Amino acid sequence: MLVGKLITFEGIDGSGKSTQIQLLEAEFEKMGITYQTFREPGGTGLSEKIREILLDKDNIELYSNAESLLFAAARAQLTVEQIKPAIAKGECVICDRFTDSTIAYQGYGRGLNIKNLEMINNIATEGLTPDITFILDIDPEKASERMKAEAPDRMESAGIDFFQKIRQGYHQIMEQNQSRCILINGEQSQENVFKEINQLIMKRFKGELVCSN
Ligand code: TMP
Repeated sequence: MLVGKLITFEGIDGSGKSTQIQLLEAEFEKMGITYQTFREPGGTGLSEKIREILLDKDNIELYSNAESLLFAAARAQLTVEQIKPAIAKGECVICDRFTDSTIAYQGYGRGLNIKNLEMINNIATEGLTPDITFILDIDPEKASERMKAEAPDRMESAGIDFFQKIRQGYHQIMEQNQSRCILINGEQSQENVFKEINQLIMKRFKGELVCSN
């Protein structure tokens, strides 16, 4: 078992996080690792309701500070209701986005004060920090090509410039959190991206991997 680890995936919309999470889930199942996966915003009844508000294209009047606090409220609920209990039980938690999304999107993307956002994040998570974070790095033009088939939500409707700022923000986050964050070239094939992620997990948590089957 991989005991009580929090593994988070980050990146701009269309960076391929969901595919990589599915591949990791399949790998964990093969290895007999007990895990739970959550998405942010979401993962609890209340957080999913907040997600609807945040992604609804009709809510164009949502101010950036209100947006940040809603993301934080969803995270606070998810942390206490799901993530912390799972980790306490020794389960591995995979999270599709976490605190870094707020720094990248609301901080670097919307231009809000990063120190304030860090404080809000800290309140929402009660100081919980991921054990490892994979940032999938991709050119926003390429990411937007990948997402063409789906109707964009409120966040995805922002222009390419917004996503360029977020991408640069993720680079800054990586620079400032080098022991936790790993930047992965998301423009490679899905197989190569996963190979890299899997190797890094196995290497990082080597001594803590005990398979139950
Ligand atoms: P996703 O689940 O498809 O990634 O959608 C969530 C959207 O919300 C995505 O555009 C990123 C955005 N987001 C923020 O702006 N700040 C946050 O703190 C989080 C968790 C997500």
